[in-house]
Amino acid sequence: MIKVITYGTYDHLHQGHIRLLERARSLGDYLIVGVTSDDFDKQRGKINVRQPLEERIAAVRATGLADKIIIEEYEGQKIDDVKRYGVDIFTVGSDWVGRFDYLEEYCKVVYLERTRGISSTEIRSTVKFRCGLVGYTDYINRVFTECGLVDGLEVVAICANDTSLLEEDLLDSLLITDDFDEMLGTVDVVYIHSHPDCHYDQVKRALKAGKHVMCEAPVAKSASECDELFALADERCLVLMDSLRTAYSTAFARMLLLVAGGCIGDVVSIDATCTNLKTNRPPYSLSRETAWSSMAAWAPTALLPIFQILGPKPKSVAISSLCDPKDDAFDYFSRISLEFPRAVASATVGTGAKSEGSLVVSGTKGYVYIPAPWWKTDYFEIRCEEPSNNRRFFYQLDGEGIRFEWVAFLRMIDSLGRGSDGESALRREGGIGREITRAICEVIGSFERGANVRYLEA
Ligand code: CTP
Repeated sequence: MIKVITYGTYDHLHQGHIRLLERARSLGDYLIVGVTSDDFDKQRGKINVRQPLEERIAAVRATGLADKIIIEEYEGQKIDDVKRYGVDIFTVGSDWVGRFDYLEEYCKVVYLERTRGISSTEIRSTVKFRCGLVGYTDYINRVFTECGLVDGLEVVAICANDTSLLEEDLLDSLLITDDFDEMLGTVDVVYIHSHPDCHYDQVKRALKAGKHVMCEAPVAKSASECDELFALADERCLVLMDSLRTAYSTAFARMLLLVAGGCIGDVVSIDATCTNLKTNRPPYSLSRETAWSSMAAWAPTALLPIFQILGPKPKSVAISSLCDPKDDAFDYFSRISLEFPRAVASATVGTGAKSEGSLVVSGTKGYVYIPAPWWKTDYFEIRCEEPSNNRRFFYQLDGEGIRFEWVAFLRMIDSLGRGSDGESALRREGGIGREITRAICEVIGSFERGANVRYLEA
């Protein structure tokens, strides 16, 4: 019996895939099809895959052409598979010519002519979302570059009332306006990275205009405003999503799973620190209206692991802030202390002071340590009393998680289009749960109202 093996992602299975599978099958008597796992695709830079692994496997199975389907999960697995299954022929499309010649040491390698004029990339790009970016910080330049890597997305407009930090090629090629409604008129989806004071109003206007919205956290400054925005999104079948790119880092997501699985015992404490002296605050950059306080700039990120691990309902929240002497609502350093039923946590944030930006999650059997800057994490350690039990984890993180967040956003829009509700779409795509978005809004809101805040003398 001649055994043949072939591999692929098979996103939105199309005629090119089917033709390849048919020809692969006719090379022998038994066809094994390797379907890439979501993680492996992410690792090898194939970020745009829209269908989850189960759906892609089901589509390959439905062709009736595969005798066996396996999952490809790691670099180098092909050699293992060829040996393990006693494969005689390895085959893929001609787009890979030469790439797998190294397998000739183990089996015959055949490159089949690729079918012209069709690909998953093209299918994903048939629906193009026109996107508007709202914001004036240099982060918008990065977002623009990352959006260019996402299939089915085209940035067409930027809404900003100060363009001094935006790069020239953006200014030359897009609609640049300070009129939010004008921008809304030209787009399908909106990304909001404006001053946090503007978020609630802008999100509401965008949703009312029928646009899907991704908004930098906090989306609003109270839990009730946040609820109102989610209700509006649901009513209109639109995606509203918090933007916190850390949530889309594989290392961070894996760390959460290990902690939930008890790898450090019961969690007793979480300490998250985020500081950055380059953040947009006076006297470093723009005016009071456009500058962000430490709480606005960093608290959502620092609170993310705390609420994700300990839940969104702290028993108490107390904030101590050091404020600009000339502007007492503008903190340059703050510490949020939270108490939970059986744990404590601190979120330390600063735009006018510098500290070690690490994350430590302490438990009854050990602790997790993520070195600075933990919010762009590709690495973490589990440390135990007995050093020989320590474990280290490393996962590739491209583009600081921004591109993955965008792909998740588009996948959520797809899910909604297929009848899923907003909350389950968020969960399926590994997004930030609504109750966490809400809890973040609550803490930022209470700071702004001065509730539970101690302003320390300058
Ligand atoms: N393939 C083919 N003809 C096409 C598209 C794909 O023969 N028009 C083959 C590929 O060469 C590969 C297999 O089908 O052997 C699976 O390819 P995959 O990467 O999943 O599909 P693409 O359409 O190439 O995906 P993408 O656009 O995301 O790269």
